[in-house]
Amino acid sequence: MNESVRSTERPSERRTAARSSVVWDAVRPYVEDAGGVDVLDIGGGTGGFAVRVARLGARVTVVDPSPDALAALGRRARELEVEVSAQQGDLATLLDVVEPRSADVVLCHGVLEVVDDPVAALATLREVLRPGGVLSLLVAQRHAAVVARAMAGHFGQALALLDAPAGERDGRTSHRFTAAEATALLGQAGFSVDAVHGVRVFADLVPGSLLDLEPGATAALVELERAVAERAEYLPLAAQLHLLAH
Ligand SMILES: C[S@@+](CC[C@H](N)C(=O)[O-])C[C@H]1O[C@@H](n2cnc3c(N)ncnc32)[C@H](O)[C@@H]1O
Repeated sequence: MNESVRSTERPSERRTAARSSVVWDAVRPYVEDAGGVDVLDIGGGTGGFAVRVARLGARVTVVDPSPDALAALGRRARELEVEVSAQQGDLATLLDVVEPRSADVVLCHGVLEVVDDPVAALATLREVLRPGGVLSLLVAQRHAAVVARAMAGHFGQALALLDAPAGERDGRTSHRFTAAEATALLGQAGFSVDAVHGVRVFADLVPGSLLDLEPGATAALVELERAVAERAEYLPLAAQLHLLAH
């Protein structure tokens, strides 16, 4: 059985497994190099992903503006007896705390939504990557967010989100991206996109109780998420988009 869907996992972990399996599958080949690779996790937060990467032998640095998140990361890493370097910092001023061309893999998961200038942020990440390095970008997807707002009865918000410019936000709301918009922003920052995956196509729609009570449901859901992740017709339904770029 896949390591992310063991039957001993707690309910919250089962849902996390269903949500993160596609991204993990895509990133894993780049971080499990036997010689150890340098991984920067910008906005890595409490380190859920970073510690999994560190357990594979990678040298991982998390940069995040939140001291509370970094403290939680430290506790998590100690509990699991892995080393993760934690550095307080911000994507907008990343080069103050990280050397250019110092990372083989950059993880930017759930962060581009909240920066003021996504193209400038991506250009900074490109400077941090070594030649041949890979960016793993995870962003919230616009179409699914429109549907989610409409289903919650927030019709005005859904309407506003329909055509909101991908590179602008009003300071309170987060960016949402279509696959075409994310690809274009990466191109403007000098990246070429290698792969696009739809993430959480079904995982957020399934009642948690189903995963908790029905034996094998989480593993079956993970298999389904994997099966649709690269099918273009399911991309607009995905809560998040994952892009690999170099
Ligand atoms: C939605 S969480 C994602 C955490 C983690 N990357 C994950 O995928 O689970 C967003 C994280 O980005 C961090 N963050 C917010 N603004 C940031 C910025 N300007 N630069 C870097 N990180 C930022 C937050 O502190 C938070 O830890």
